[in-house]
Amino acid sequence: MPVRPIITAPDPRLKARARPVAKVDDAVRRLMDDMLETMYAAPGIGLAAPQVGESLRVIVLDVAGKDEKPQPMKLANPEIVWASDERVRCEEGCLSVPEHYAEVDRPAAVRVRYLDYQNEIREVEADGTLATCLQHEIDHLEGTLFVDHISALKRNIILRKLKKQKRAEAEEPARS
Ligand code: NI
Repeated sequence: MPVRPIITAPDPRLKARARPVAKVDDAVRRLMDDMLETMYAAPGIGLAAPQVGESLRVIVLDVAGKDEKPQPMKLANPEIVWASDERVRCEEGCLSVPEHYAEVDRPAAVRVRYLDYQNEIREVEADGTLATCLQHEIDHLEGTLFVDHISALKRNIILRKLKKQKRAEAEEPARS
């Protein structure tokens, strides 16, 4: 089952801290492949395992532009080992917070250590969209959503709308 359903906020599974993987084995690789397919289908530029109901420290990303060659990235146990003092504000969205966007302030550049698809330790240094996206996805592994970085007032407005939308969907008669 390649494309998996994406969990939307509010949901306790998005608030939990995810477990590290012991090793990138076939099961983890399968999860990475499914997540990438789910992300492309959404479409999105990043996805973390808790968003598909797996409490594991696995993220996938592809920040390539529309006319660029795809640049899929699959990371297990990602860890920020350095962050720049310089910060930037970028507009962020999230597949688990559909149709809401907000500006988030984060370090402009980061270095991330992780296990790759072959279970090798690697590091990537990133700035721009990739740096923002890496930090956003690693946040998911700590149970943090981008709305947790904005004012409580704005966050509550967004979460209240999402809750209402979920309730409306649950009450809707099933469509075939
Ligand atoms: Ni997200």
